[in-house]
Amino acid sequence: MSRTLVIAKPDAVERNLVGEIVGRLERKGLRLVAAELRLITRETAAQHYAEHEGKGFYEDLVAFITRSPAFVFVVEGPDDTWKIVRTLMGATNPVEAAPGTIRGDLGTLFTENLIHGSDSEESAQREIGIFFPNL
Ligand code: RTP
Ligand code: MG
Repeated sequence: MSRTLVIAKPDAVERNLVGEIVGRLERKGLRLVAAELRLITRETAAQHYAEHEGKGFYEDLVAFITRSPAFVFVVEGPDDTWKIVRTLMGATNPVEAAPGTIRGDLGTLFTENLIHGSDSEESAQREIGIFFPNL
């Protein structure tokens, strides 16, 4: 078994798509083990997106992820659950994301791309520790 961190980003909450996103992951066979609707602080966003600090899109990314509440959750499934979530998410840019994926079906904008999923087992451990330190 393994776990990964998922964020239904502020655009997903604003567009009432949290149930749709959680439902897709649940129907795939993943189980919720923690969840919270929360306003991500600038400090937490900086920790979470530390790998992107200094890049041209960093300020826009932090402004977006902190602008209104996000639905932050952890799902559990078989080995490499992080990879299952990434496959269901689709490509980072919704313009290129395949139909059938969350970004491919529901989004159009690069920044407002609805969902975050950890990109490796190590990232999953690190990010779960940021948002759910007691898990
Ligand atoms: P995320 O971390 O949000 O799940 O997305 P990701 O792994 O698919 O993409 P990542 O490379 O980690 O980038 C994080 C977010 O930054 C925005 N971005 N903009 N303008 C650009 O070149 C650019 N590159 C990345 C995207 O909104 C992406 O989700
Ligand atoms: Mg990423």
